[in-house]
Amino acid sequence: MRIVSGIQTTGNLHLGNYLGAIRQWVAMQDAMAPGDDCLFFLADLHALTVHQEPAALADATIEMAATLMAAGIDTDRSILFNQARVPEHAELCWLLQGTARMGWLNRMTQWKDKAGKNREGASVGLFTYPVLQAADVLVYNATHVPVGEDQKQHLELARDIATKFNTDFGVELFALPEPLISAEAPRIMSLRDGSAKMSKSDPSDMSRINLIDDDDAIAGKIRKARTDAEPLPDALDALADRPEARNLLTIYAVLEGRAPADVLGEFTGQGFGAFKPRLADLAVATLGPIRDRLTRLLDDRAAVAAELRKGADRARTLAAPTLRAAQQALGL
Ligand code: ADP
Ligand code: NA
Repeated sequence: MRIVSGIQTTGNLHLGNYLGAIRQWVAMQDAMAPGDDCLFFLADLHALTVHQEPAALADATIEMAATLMAAGIDTDRSILFNQARVPEHAELCWLLQGTARMGWLNRMTQWKDKAGKNREGASVGLFTYPVLQAADVLVYNATHVPVGEDQKQHLELARDIATKFNTDFGVELFALPEPLISAEAPRIMSLRDGSAKMSKSDPSDMSRINLIDDDDAIAGKIRKARTDAEPLPDALDALADRPEARNLLTIYAVLEGRAPADVLGEFTGQGFGAFKPRLADLAVATLGPIRDRLTRLLDDRAAVAAELRKGADRARTLAAPTLRAAQQALGL
């Protein structure tokens, strides 16, 4: 089994990113059997499809790597690197451009959504982005690619490109990657509004717990989280119209790895005055060590960069033979 997964290089990660995404990658790594490979790359080439401030992109790449390492990605077991340092991605992407069809890319719903009505003003990269995604996984002959609902179409495109390339050039070069549907990731809502997703783009810092927050900030944000004056009920159904209460219960349950109904049973009849301090303790106990590791890693950014170079070297060893075989198939 070889799992390949790309991660956007965004800074300031929060509890929603951790519980909804990063924890799943750590779980994939921890579930690896001997002989399996997990490759996690920071998608700094994909980032270029929209304008980036160069200094901010460089910082975000290091911060994202440090966050993944702090959260449990082990750079000895997993291969962690940034895309730009493994030129085989971009080179294979170009080789696949002769195989990918305009019509296929035109049908990508993400292209339609992101370009909107301004197709003339969209970058060329935004259009061909899914071809780079195909190269990202085909260059390693990935067997499995974790995909959310919004990326299923792009994985299907990677399979179409692989199939057409193999057929057109009479080779059995590219394996067809399978989607890896992981256990359903929880959706964490804003601490200020139970109908909005916790997000770094929310202007209120009180709406989210940042992974870099200190213990007092974590506890303070939970204490001030919007709730209601009702005690906790005995059945989950009774929280259907109390989204803020449901969200805090979800966070508690996910942090402790328990079923929400089970946690609810423990607190039935109690108000948030009792629940919130317990949640704050739990959040601090879980997130505090991650923040401490993250802070230490960010104190030595050069060391994080060195880990990424190590990952890139390992990734290139796996990618180079595939690229060479693709060149040969094409007569290059
Ligand atoms: P943001 O909304 O803060 O900009 P991104 O869109 O960059 O976050 O998402 C990065 C990853 O984190 C994605 O896999 C996404 O599904 C996950 N994620 C983001 N916000 C949440 C959330 N509130 N709850 C669960 N998962 C989330
Ligand atoms: Na976002």
